[in-house]
Amino acid sequence: MTRPVPHPFDLTGRTALVTGGGRGLGFEIARALAHAGATVWINGRDAGRLARAVTAIGRAGGTARALAFDIADPAGRDRAVADLGLDILVNNVGTRRRGPVADCPPDAFLAMLDTNLAAPYALARAVLSGMVDRGWGRLITLCSIAGPQGRANDAAYTAAKGGLAALTRALATEFGRHGITSNGIAPGYFATETNAAMVADAAVTDYVRTRIPLARWGRPEEIAGAAVFLASDAAGYVNGHVLTVDGGLSTAF
Ligand SMILES: NC(=O)c1ccc[n+]([C@@H]2O[C@H](COP(=O)([O-])OP(=O)(O)OC[C@H]3O[C@@H](n4cnc5c(N)ncnc54)[C@H](OP(=O)(O)O)[C@@H]3O)[C@@H](O)[C@H]2O)c1
Repeated sequence: MTRPVPHPFDLTGRTALVTGGGRGLGFEIARALAHAGATVWINGRDAGRLARAVTAIGRAGGTARALAFDIADPAGRDRAVADLGLDILVNNVGTRRRGPVADCPPDAFLAMLDTNLAAPYALARAVLSGMVDRGWGRLITLCSIAGPQGRANDAAYTAAKGGLAALTRALATEFGRHGITSNGIAPGYFATETNAAMVADAAVTDYVRTRIPLARWGRPEEIAGAAVFLASDAAGYVNGHVLTVDGGLSTAF
C-alpha cells in the first residue's frame, strides 16, 4: 500500500511562535500556520486579546496557545521561549514612532531599535540552538517596504526595518548548513486595525489607489500565504530572501 504524500505546505507536527500574534498581520499569520497544521504559540502583552485570538483559531479547528510577554523585556522573553521546542519563529512585532528627526532624540531612537531589531535578534538567538540540535528550523521576520526605501518622518522605524532585512540575510548565511532557513516578508499598505485612521484618511487611500498597481489596500489575510510558504517544506531551498507583499507598489514608479 502506498502512503499518502504530505502536501508541501503541510505544517503538521511543527511548533511555531508568532510574536504580536493577537491582532493584525500577526494574527492572520498565526491563524494560517495553525490551519496548515502547526501548533502555534501566540505572543503579545495583552492577555485578554491573546485569549480571544486563541479561541478564534480553536473554533476554526486550529491549535493555538497564548504566551504573554513583552519582547523588549529580556528576562520575561528568555524565560518564555526557553523550552518551547520551536520549529518556526515568526518575528512579527513592529512598533512605530512617526515624526521628524528633531522630535526623535537618540534615546527614543534606541528604544525603537531595541523593540524592533534587538528583541527579534535575541528571540532568534534563544531558539536557534534547539533548531540546530533538531537540524530543521524556520526564521521568518516581518520587515517592510520601508527599509530598502527611505521614508520621511519615520527614521527609527525605517532604520530598524532595514536592519531586520540585513539580519535576515546574516542568519541565513550562518545557519543554512544546519537545515535552518531565514527569510523575511516585506508588507506594503495593509488595512490592519492599527492603520484604521490611515484607511479612513481620503488622501492616504487616494495615494494607495493611484500608486499601487493593484489599486487597493492589502487585506490582512493576504499576508498569510507568504508565511505558510516560507514555513513549509515547499520553501526548503529559499533562504536569505525578503518576499515583498505590496500589491506591486515597490516595483512601480
Ligand atoms: N500593517 C501594515 O501595513 C504593515 C506594513 C509594513 C510592515 N508591517 C509590519 O508587519 C508587522 C505587523 O504589523 P501590524 O500592522 O499587524 O501590527 P499591529 O497591528 O500594530 O500589531 C502589533 C502586535 O504586536 C504586539 N506588540 C507590540 N509591542 C509588543 C511588545 N513589546 N511585546 C509583545 N508584543 C507586542 C501587539 O499586541 P499588544 O499591544 O497586546 O502587546 C500587537 O498584537 C510589524 O512588524 C509591522 O512593522 C506592517
